[in-house]
Amino acid sequence: MLYYSFLIDSVCILYYKSAFNLTLPENNKLYPYCNLREQVKAEKMNRLSGRVAVITGGASGIGKAAVLKFAQEGARVVIWDLQTEKGKETLAEAEKISPGHDFMEVNTTQLAAVEAAAAAVVEKYGQIDILINNAGITRDATLAKMTAEQWQQVIDVNLTGVFNCAKAITPFMVEKGYGRIINTSSVVGLYGNFGQTNYVATKAGVIGMTKTWAREFGKKGILVNAVAPGFIATDMVAAMPEKVIEMMKSKTPLNRLGTPEDIANIYCFLASDEASYISGTCISVDGALSL
Ligand SMILES: NC(=O)c1ccc[n+]([C@@H]2O[C@H](COP(=O)([O-])OP(=O)(O)OC[C@H]3O[C@@H](n4cnc5c(N)ncnc54)[C@H](O)[C@@H]3O)[C@@H](O)[C@H]2O)c1
Repeated sequence: MLYYSFLIDSVCILYYKSAFNLTLPENNKLYPYCNLREQVKAEKMNRLSGRVAVITGGASGIGKAAVLKFAQEGARVVIWDLQTEKGKETLAEAEKISPGHDFMEVNTTQLAAVEAAAAAVVEKYGQIDILINNAGITRDATLAKMTAEQWQQVIDVNLTGVFNCAKAITPFMVEKGYGRIINTSSVVGLYGNFGQTNYVATKAGVIGMTKTWAREFGKKGILVNAVAPGFIATDMVAAMPEKVIEMMKSKTPLNRLGTPEDIANIYCFLASDEASYISGTCISVDGALSL
């Protein structure tokens, strides 16, 4: 029995080796074959090879997980974020995965700065294939207590920032006849949330912009989609009281908060050729919270 199992695994290994043109590690004399399986898995993960991706808010949280995922999948990643120190730390981690990424200190609320940054990326790398509009903030308060300033700050980053980045980058995508735009919405943009008038307005607005741009740019080879995360374990959620976090978990049928990687994975899928017939949609990644 053991003999047959060994034989079958050896045949599989030889098949994988020829199919994916792999070299066996020196210490791997067909056994232990699990090393090779890991290698096959790693070498198959190249879904964004040759693509240039701009990821806003890529210094931390979900954006950081996306930067690392995209680097692993063969993309050249340019991080746009306000936080220089964290951005450079993320860049250093990405460089360990694969070389050739970049960090630029960009405030997405400033159209002129965004346009200059987009032009600089194209000047350096020749193209921008993927835009992940991920930067976002919260300034929570009930309507009764929300100030005009809190309202405006969230509109500026979550809505105008998304507009600015798409406005600056789509002309380059149109020129190439190729583009993927992924806008980050939220479960609360679909269902509303107590104390988040400003945030909910922006996250619902992002879905509207996604559908509009999918119509405007579909014939030009640009696919536009939104992702609506549930509650994800990042600084944004960590800032909430423990009681609220526990309540979120208990309301989620999968009984946990999402991880930044849960969202990075869907960004990657939507940016890859596997999603080439998906546009104008909003995908919920929320552990069934929205049921
Ligand atoms: N964490 C969650 O539970 C959750 C749920 C639903 C949606 N989202 C959305 O996911 C996205 C990422 O959230 P996160 O939880 O990783 O947050 P985060 O606070 O960890 O990261 C947000 C990043 O955006 C950057 N940023 C903020 N304003 C910017 C600006 N004007 N220009 C450039 N960069 C700016 C920040 O510096 C930060 O690095 C946001 O759009 C958020 O609304 C998060």
